[in-house]
Formats: sequence, structure tokens, C-alpha cells
Amino acid sequence: MREAGKVTGYILNELKELIKPGISTMDIDRFVEKTVKAHGMIAAEKGYCGYPASVCTSVNEEVVHGIPSKKRILREGDIVSVDLVVEYKGYMADAARTYAVGKISPEAEHLIKTAEDAFWKGIEFAKVGYRLSDISHNIQTVVEGQGFGVIRDFVGHGIGSDMHEDPQIPNYGKPGKGPRLQAGMTLAIEPMICQGSYEVDVLLDDWTAVTVDGGLAAHYENTVVITDGEPELLTL
Ligand code: MF3
Ligand code: CO
Repeated sequence: MREAGKVTGYILNELKELIKPGISTMDIDRFVEKTVKAHGMIAAEKGYCGYPASVCTSVNEEVVHGIPSKKRILREGDIVSVDLVVEYKGYMADAARTYAVGKISPEAEHLIKTAEDAFWKGIEFAKVGYRLSDISHNIQTVVEGQGFGVIRDFVGHGIGSDMHEDPQIPNYGKPGKGPRLQAGMTLAIEPMICQGSYEVDVLLDDWTAVTVDGGLAAHYENTVVITDGEPELLTL
């Protein structure tokens, strides 16, 4: 998972250079697929439950699971969330970032920053001695404190030899509930947040989840290991 996580984080960092007005979301997919293969690894989303691409690219009001397309050209002012799972020797790492395409509105910047801030607040509680929902609750507090909404229909998750393992990790909820955190647990913690209402719809492609009210959405995810001390982040 550490090896897979290094490549995941490397690719997401490289995408900062690639993502510009005029590229298509398929250009992101091609870059990801080529780079994962060059490292001798597998882009694990391809074929997962029939998902057709190597990576998820969700633009503006798309929350998660947007399918890359050569027709979807990114324009100045858009935001795009990229969510990538890399597999190496049967183990997975999962991470996501939201990128600005050229210059974006202050509100969009604030949304992207809040998703990331919520993640960092959440993992202050990703330690032995806390319970799972302490992470969830603190993510929610940051997001709602900035006036944004927490998506309910998608959650973080355990991860290992499967992309999605127990437990589910909502980005909302009361503190002090759920399993006690133990050293060695590997979790994908992933605030998915929106400008307005958290209601989502899935488009007719059966994958792309969008906000019903058309408000922007942002996503920030890393694969994290619970240790006896500070959490270890595998996908930075
Ligand atoms: N990577 C996503 C997550 O964060 C799951 C993508 S599902 C897929 O859990 F089918 F698109 F791969
Ligand atoms: Co995930």
C-alpha cells in the first residue's frame, strides 16, 4: 500500500501542471493510465463494477465518479476533482484532489480549501484512543462552519486488498461512535463537500453523481494508516 500510495500521490501532484484550460478530461485519463503502467502498477478503477476509465474526473457540479471524455474540455474557471486508485501486488491506495482550471472564483477556491482543511482536521482524530465517528464529526464541523454542505450519499472507507472495505466512514455524524481506532487500520478518508444542498443525482451514464441544485462540489482524499502515534499518510 505504501508503494501504491507513493505513485498515487506522485500522479496527483503532477496533474497540477497538466490541468489547464483547453485540455480534456480524457487527457487526464491518458496521463494517469500511462504513468501508472510505467510504474508497473494497475489503475484499479478500470473495470471496477464496470467503471469504464482509469480515473474519475468530476467537473464543477459533478461530485464523484465523472467519466473522462475527449469531448469534456476544461475551461478557465472550472474546477475538476480527480480520484485515483492504484493497485500494486494486490494492495490499493486511494486519493483525490480538486484542481482549479486557470483562474477560478474566490468561492470556488474557498470550497476547495475547505475540503482539504476538513480532511486535516479529521485526521487529528485518526489515532488510537478515538472512535471512528470522531473523524466524521470533526470533518462535518469544519465544512458546515464555512457554510458548505457535506455529501451524504458517498463516504470514506477501509481499504487494503479491496478498494472498499469496512468500515464506512461518513463525513458527518455524532462523535464517540463506531469502532475504536487501532494501529494497523488502513482508511481512505475523503470529505466530499458542496456549496449548497447535499442532495445528489446520478446521471444517465449510471456513474456521474451531480449536485441536484447545480452548486459546485470538491473532494479531498488520502489513504491513511492508524499507528501508535501520528497517522501515516500514504498518498501525499
Ligand atoms: N476512488 C473512489 C473512492 O474514493 C471510488 C471510485 S469507484 C470507481 O472510493 F468505480 F469509479 F472506480
Ligand atoms: Co475512496
